[in-house]
Amino acid sequence: MSDLVTESGTTPTTRPAISVRDLRKAYGDKTVLAGIDLEVARGEVLALLGPNGAGKTTTVNILSTLQRPDSGRAEVFGRDVVTAGAEVRPLIGLTGQFSAVDGLLTGRENLALVAALAHLPGAEQKARVDEMLERFDLSPASRRQASTYSGGMRRRLDLAMTLIARPSLVFLDEPTTGLDPRSRRTMWEIIGELVASGVTILLTTQYLDEADELADRIAVLDDGKIVANDTPAGLKRLIPGGRIDLAFASAADLDRAQSLWPQAAGRAEALALFIPGDGGAAHLREVLGGLESAGIEPRGLTVETPSLDDVFFALTGHGARTTDVSSNATGDDEADATADPVDSLGERHDGTHPTDIATRHGRTER
Ligand SMILES: Nc1ncnc2c1ncn2[C@@H]1O[C@H](COP(=O)(O)OP(=O)(O)O)[C@@H](O)[C@H]1O
Ligand SMILES: [Mg+2]
Repeated sequence: MSDLVTESGTTPTTRPAISVRDLRKAYGDKTVLAGIDLEVARGEVLALLGPNGAGKTTTVNILSTLQRPDSGRAEVFGRDVVTAGAEVRPLIGLTGQFSAVDGLLTGRENLALVAALAHLPGAEQKARVDEMLERFDLSPASRRQASTYSGGMRRRLDLAMTLIARPSLVFLDEPTTGLDPRSRRTMWEIIGELVASGVTILLTTQYLDEADELADRIAVLDDGKIVANDTPAGLKRLIPGGRIDLAFASAADLDRAQSLWPQAAGRAEALALFIPGDGGAAHLREVLGGLESAGIEPRGLTVETPSLDDVFFALTGHGARTTDVSSNATGDDEADATADPVDSLGERHDGTHPTDIATRHGRTER
């Protein structure tokens, strides 16, 4: 037994953290997983990307032993999730799509409960609870009922509860859905630290920019199948649509810029130029450098990066059917805007302020 609890991302062994072969699951006559294969190496971060209803939670639930597959094989650190569930559970942590936080308990009580359930040694429990409260910026609120927490605080508490027993593999099911942009950014930072600590992570998301930011590899789930499994860069190479759009104050400026990038599409009536590329930082530097040395000051600049919809369209020939994201909102009160980076029908930013650098779908830089 003891080797089970000492499993860690640094243990030299060839067994992958997750290995899935031809996994299938249906509810009645509705097929949710139509035979998926997945492999996640130790220390790797895999993002399972897909729209609502794609089967992400079903996959996570099977891997975390909460649900049984109909057929196929799934192993976590070499243990079968169906026949060796009791060996799998101490190795994993799950932050589900819906919070495991008990609103009637304080933040501290929630953590203490999980620490006790995880059989942490009594002497270690309080220190570990304090450490997690501190790390997740919850110390000042630790004696308040969790029902009074904002959505972002609840997510952080939920994640702290997942991590308290130091799992080697963590499942994060839509960790930022419904969060406002600031809480989302905070959650990304926390997940980034977790990644740096060497924990293996499988996270699910509906957002390409989130997968891009956090994951080593992205598996795209559609209609019960993994339709792509690649690095973020590899995935984006499959997708046309990265672009930097420039707007100019005069036709003369547009003409001069057009001569710098003959391959770019110009739109004379809008004094706009669309330069194809990946829309990444290097591309942006190249464009800004070119303008600078030619002495052209653009009136506006917009970075276009591929959206989840673009990915799905390129891979499947149909859109991602992105559905109401706010339905999962957790009543966040840290800010009122709900993050929705998948605004595939967003307005163009042609007539923007001279210094306005906007990005519609993703980040401007890494
Ligand atoms: N217990 C269940 N009974 C019947 N259908 C279910 C059940 N759980 C999920 N589903 C259906 O399976 C599909 C995949 O669900 P889910 O794995 O939750 O998708 P995702 O997490 O990607 O949004 C959805 O169409 C959902 O309605
Ligand atoms: Mg889900």
